[in-house]
Amino acid sequence: MKFTVFAAATAALCALATTSVAEPQAEVLHWWTSGGEAKSVAVLQQEFKDNGGTWTDMPVAGGGGDAAMTALRARVLSGNAPAAVQLKGPAIQEWYEEGVLSDISAVAEENGWADVLPAAIAEHMKCEGTWCAAPVNVHRVDWIWANAQVLADNGIEMPTTWEEFNAAADKLQAAGITPLAHGGQAWQDATVFETVVLGLGGPEFFHKALVELDPEALGSDTMKAVFDQMRKMRGYVDANFSGRDWNLATAMVMNGEAAFQIMGDWAKGEFLAAGKTPGEDFLCASTPGEGYLYNVDSFAMFDVDGADKEEGQALLAKLIVGPSFQKVFNLNKGSIPVRTDVSLDEFDMCAHTSSEEMAASSESGSLLPSYAHGMALRGAQSGAITDVVTAHFNSDMSSDDAVEMLVNAVAAVQ
Ligand code: BGC
Repeated sequence: MKFTVFAAATAALCALATTSVAEPQAEVLHWWTSGGEAKSVAVLQQEFKDNGGTWTDMPVAGGGGDAAMTALRARVLSGNAPAAVQLKGPAIQEWYEEGVLSDISAVAEENGWADVLPAAIAEHMKCEGTWCAAPVNVHRVDWIWANAQVLADNGIEMPTTWEEFNAAADKLQAAGITPLAHGGQAWQDATVFETVVLGLGGPEFFHKALVELDPEALGSDTMKAVFDQMRKMRGYVDANFSGRDWNLATAMVMNGEAAFQIMGDWAKGEFLAAGKTPGEDFLCASTPGEGYLYNVDSFAMFDVDGADKEEGQALLAKLIVGPSFQKVFNLNKGSIPVRTDVSLDEFDMCAHTSSEEMAASSESGSLLPSYAHGMALRGAQSGAITDVVTAHFNSDMSSDDAVEMLVNAVAAVQ
């Protein structure tokens, strides 16, 4: 780890006003390429530029970041890692174990991160006690979005149970409307699946099955009921769902072609970027059931040579957790600030719901890491689960077979 050099770079940054130092540079790998995402990342680019930085953009399209992670692996293997990388959950520690991450403790300490970040989230940003990532936001995953007009026209309320969801979906389908806008990509199947696990099984079951990987929970009747519900969901998507990007599914809800989408609140970023108003044009509610699935975007800094690059990393880390970026970025992105001291006055009703329910879940022990978005498990483990979820969703596999396959797939990666 390059602690000494990094600390020196940070010190140099502080002296930026008076001393002449190398110009901060950063090549930034991320997967924020949809309308709402691009608008959000532009906020960071602008702040970086305003603070004297030169940003080299390395966007890798593909929701959920699978393609970005493949690109990252190739860059690191060729000995040419980007300076800053959008990275999340245990993947941060996995890369740290490879010995390729920079220690950003000097920036974290100087800017008092420990005082402004929730302890549970700060833990995700640490590697063997040092700070190795800078958190951007808190995205909630267990959301259901709806077209307000379509629901009103069909006399449907936002569902509060999965039975209500199924009843609403049946009614919509009979009226010729696609009940569920969905993109058939493995990570989107996993996103829907984990909300059903939480909703039907409850927070404790979710933890046992998708955090502890308890074989009993994975092979239980409750998990069979989850796959039964997934089979129903498969019947509620349109014929062209295969391979569709998540933001195109969001567009289907916007234009009334579909009624609902189950997706994290980056979907809200799309609605907002299209000028839609929550509560009027679109509705947001947590998916049926108790609990809160969190997904924290963050950036890790990879070891790079050169004072300009190290200064760029230090500047970027500082800006990401800074209060101004936290507010403006998250207003665009659909998420809420990760800092506890940023006012939510300018945020909308969905963000307020997210913040309140996050606090309540934290109190009641039902604040849980999203498995589908890489917050709960190591890559091989979450990959094994997602393979089963996708195989089931895209075939006529029975729930019994799916559960058996799930238990075996997880056992093979333990
Ligand atoms: C990321 C979001 C992103 C979404 C869709 C999630 O895993 O956390 O920031 O908008 O994927 O690409």
